[in-house]
Amino acid sequence: MANILDYETVALKDDDDAIEIIDQTLLPGKTEMIRLHTAQEIWDAIYLLQVRGAPAIGVTAGFGIYLLMKSSKAADYQEFIKELQEKSDFLNSSRPTAVNLSWALKRMQSHIFDFCNIIVSEDGSVNLDQAKEYDLKGILAEMRDESERIKTEDIDVCRRIGEYGLTLIEDGYGLLTHCNAGQLCACKYGTATAPMYLAHEKGMNIKVYCDETRPLLQGARLTAYELHSAGIDTTLLCDNMSASLMKSGAINAVFTGCDRVAANGDAANKIGTSLVALAAKRYGVPFYICAPTSTIDISTPTGNDINIEQRKPEEVTEMWYKERMAPEGVKVYNPAFDVTDNELIAGIVTEYGVLRAPYDEAIKKLFEEHKKN
Ligand code: MRU
Repeated sequence: MANILDYETVALKDDDDAIEIIDQTLLPGKTEMIRLHTAQEIWDAIYLLQVRGAPAIGVTAGFGIYLLMKSSKAADYQEFIKELQEKSDFLNSSRPTAVNLSWALKRMQSHIFDFCNIIVSEDGSVNLDQAKEYDLKGILAEMRDESERIKTEDIDVCRRIGEYGLTLIEDGYGLLTHCNAGQLCACKYGTATAPMYLAHEKGMNIKVYCDETRPLLQGARLTAYELHSAGIDTTLLCDNMSASLMKSGAINAVFTGCDRVAANGDAANKIGTSLVALAAKRYGVPFYICAPTSTIDISTPTGNDINIEQRKPEEVTEMWYKERMAPEGVKVYNPAFDVTDNELIAGIVTEYGVLRAPYDEAIKKLFEEHKKN
C-alpha cells in the first residue's frame, strides 16, 4: 500500500466535475478515495468529516463553489450573483466553527467581483455600472484558477508555518499535539505538524505524543497514522493522560491547530484543546497554536463570539464501540470545539511569523501589514 502521505487530501477532478477526497472516516483501516459531484455530496462530506480540518474544508469549499457554478445557466450578472450567493450559503451551512469555510467562499466571490469590475458596497448592494460584458465561460475559468490558488497557497503557507514553528523546537524535544492538524487537514505538511515534519526532514530527534481526541479519534486515527507513516517517533495517549505526561517532564512544547482565532487571540480548536493548554500552563510547557492568517477572524472580537458546533450524542455513546456504552436516554454534552483563552497561549505561529501577546495588537499589526481587510 502507498504511504498515506502520498495521497492528496483534496483534489479537483475538473474533467469529471468532481472533488476527490480521501474518506477520512475510514482511516486508518481503509484508504478509499471518493468523488463528490453534487452540492449535497459536498455538504455531507464536510458535515460527516470525510474531509475535515480547517484548511482542507476551505480548499473543498473553493473547489465546490466552482464546480457547482459550472452547471449554471445564468443569463446575466443578476442571475449569476443570486445563484452564487445561494450555493455559497448552502456550502457554508455545513459546519459553523472553522472560519476557513466562509473565508474561502468569500474569497471566491470577491475574486470574481474584482475580475468582473463589480462593485459591492458595505451594505451588500451590487453596482454593475462598470462591469465587464457578462461572459460565463470566462468567469468559470477564473473561478477554477482561484480555487486552485487556494490549494497551492495552502501548501506554501503550511510550509512557512513549519519553518517558523521549527525555531521553537530543539533537538531531543518531546512534543504533544491534539486532534489532527496534519497533512490530512490541509494539503501538505499540515499546520501543527508542519514543524514536526520539517524537524524530521532535518534529521532532528523528536518524539511526538498524540492525544487520541475523543469522541471522533482524529488523533489516534489520523495524526498518529500520518506521523508514524512518515517515520516520526510517535506515541499515542488517551486525552486524560496528557497532564501526567506533562508533569513527568516528557513534553517540551505543545503544538495544536486551530479552527478560528478571534481578534483578541482566543482560539477555537478541537474539544479538549483548552484542557491541554491549562495543564501546559500549570507545568510550564509552552503551548503554541499554529494558524494560517486565513484562520484568523478579525470580525470576531473574542472567543465568546465564536459559534461552537454541537454534534450528535451517538458520537459519544456508540461510535467506535461494539455496543452502546452509556445508558439509554442519558443526556450527552458533545461540543466539537472549545476556546483556549489567549493568556494560555505562548505564541500563535502564522506564515508571517510567531505572534506574541498582547494578541489584539499583534493581530491588528499582522492584518495591517499583510491583509487588505
Ligand atoms: O472536527 P475536525 O476534525 O474538523 O476538527 C479539526 C481540528 O480541530 C483541527 O485541529 C483544526 O481544524 C486545525 S487544522 C489545521
